[in-house]
Amino acid sequence: MTQSRIVLDQSRIPTHWYNVIADMPNPPAPVLAPDGKPITPDQLMMIFPESLIMQEVSGERWIPIPDPVREIYKLWRPTPLQRAYRLEQALGTPARIWYKNESVSPAGSHKPNSAVAQAYYNKQAGIKRLSTETGAGQWGSAISLAGQMFGLEVMVYMVRISYDQKPFRRSMMQTWGARVLPSPTNTTRSGSKILAADPNSPGSLGIAISEAVEVAAGSPDTNYTLGSVLNHVLLHQTVIGLEAKEQMQIAGDYPDVIFAPCGGGSNFGGIAFPFLADKAADKDIRLVAVEPTSCPTMTRGHYAYDFGDSAGLTPMLRMYTLGHDFVPPGIHAGGLRYHGDSALVSQLYHEKIIEAVAVDQIATFEAGVLFAKTEGIIPAPESNHAIRACVDEALRCKATGESKCLLFNLSGHGHFDMAAYDRFFRGELEDYAYPQAAIEAALEHLPKVAVG
Ligand SMILES: Cc1ncc(COP(=O)(O)O)c(C=O)c1O
Repeated sequence: MTQSRIVLDQSRIPTHWYNVIADMPNPPAPVLAPDGKPITPDQLMMIFPESLIMQEVSGERWIPIPDPVREIYKLWRPTPLQRAYRLEQALGTPARIWYKNESVSPAGSHKPNSAVAQAYYNKQAGIKRLSTETGAGQWGSAISLAGQMFGLEVMVYMVRISYDQKPFRRSMMQTWGARVLPSPTNTTRSGSKILAADPNSPGSLGIAISEAVEVAAGSPDTNYTLGSVLNHVLLHQTVIGLEAKEQMQIAGDYPDVIFAPCGGGSNFGGIAFPFLADKAADKDIRLVAVEPTSCPTMTRGHYAYDFGDSAGLTPMLRMYTLGHDFVPPGIHAGGLRYHGDSALVSQLYHEKIIEAVAVDQIATFEAGVLFAKTEGIIPAPESNHAIRACVDEALRCKATGESKCLLFNLSGHGHFDMAAYDRFFRGELEDYAYPQAAIEAALEHLPKVAVG
C-alpha cells in the first residue's frame, strides 16, 4: 500500500520556532510610532508582555518553545502531512500534491499555534485578561481556547458581519469561557465614532483591532493579542513548516512550490518560512501567498507605512496595504479581509523572494468542493484560496507533462462556514474585483512618512 499520510511522533513537536529574520537578505523595516519615530519597547509594553516584544524584534534564528506550550501543542500536534492522491487522480495531473492539515486543532485551524504561546507569555507576566479581535471567528476561538487553558479571561471584538454570519463560532468562544462583542460596539471611543457615522457598519478587522487595543491600553491587567501580521505570530506558526519539512523528508519528496492563503500572513509565514531558509541556501523553491481578488493587498496594494487598525492607534508597519480605512466587501473568507499584511511577508514580496497571486471567490469554492469530494475534508473558505492556486498549478503540470511536487497549507476546516457553501450551491456568490479607484483613494489616506 502506498503511504499517503505522514504522521510524526509527539516527541517530534519542534523544540524551537524558526525566525526568518536571521535569513532575510535585508533587515526588517523599522516599526514606527504614530509620531513617525521608530517605536521603543516601552511603548509596546502598554499592550504586550516583554517576552513577546523581545520575540518581535529578535534576530536569533532559533527561539525555544517553552515546555508548557509544547505540552498543549500535544493535544493536536504534530499535524499530519497528507498526499492528495485522489485529488491528483481527479485532476489527471502528473503533479504530486501534498497538504499539511492544520484543521485538526481543537479550534479547527492553525491559529492556536500562536494563541497558546501568547496566552502562556501573558500568564507568565501576571496578566489577567486578554482582549482581541476576530474576523472569521477562527482567531477568536483559538485565543478563547488558549485563555481557558491558562486561566485568563478573554474578551473578543468580533467583526459584526461575521458575528451575524457565524453564530456558532460565537457559541464556540463562549463554550471556552470568552465574552464576545459585535464590533463596532459603543463601549469604546473608536467603536462609538464608527457607529455615529454609520449605525449599520458591518465592521472590519481594522475597527475591531482599534477597539481591542483601546481596551488593553486603558487597563493595566489587560493585554492585547493579535492573531496574525506581527513577527512573533508568524514565528509561532513556523511549527507548521518545521514539521512539514521533516515529513517531506520521510516521504522522500521536496516541494517545488508551496501555497498558502494569505490574510495577515501568519499561516503563509508558518509553512513557508522554514523552507525559505533552504531558498536562502540556493534551493530552487517557489513560495506563493494566495489572496482574494476582492482584497488584493499584495497583488494590487501600496507598499507603504500604514496603521494596523482603522483608528490609527497601532504602530505603523511598512507593508502592502489597501489603506487602514478599508472596509472590505462581505466575501466569505472572513479571515482574508484585512487591509494590510505582515511586514515580513510584505518585505519578502517586495524583494521578490516570495510570490503572491489573487483568486476569485467562486473559483475558490469550486476548488474547495472538488477537494472535499476527493479528499473528504471540507476546507475553510480561506484555505480554498490555496487549494485553488494549487489546483491551477497542477493543471498547468497536466498541460506541460511536468511532475512537480506541490504543497499547500490546509489552514482550517469549514464546518462553521457551511452557510457560505450553501450560498455557493444556490449560485448566490459573486466575484468582486476590488475597484481601482478605491485603491488609488487609499493613497490619499496613508500616513505621510518619509521612507529612507
Ligand atoms: C482558516 C484560516 N486560514 C487563513 C486565515 C488567514 O490568516 P493568516 O493569513 O494570518 O493565516 C485565517 C484567518 O482567520 C483562517 O481562519
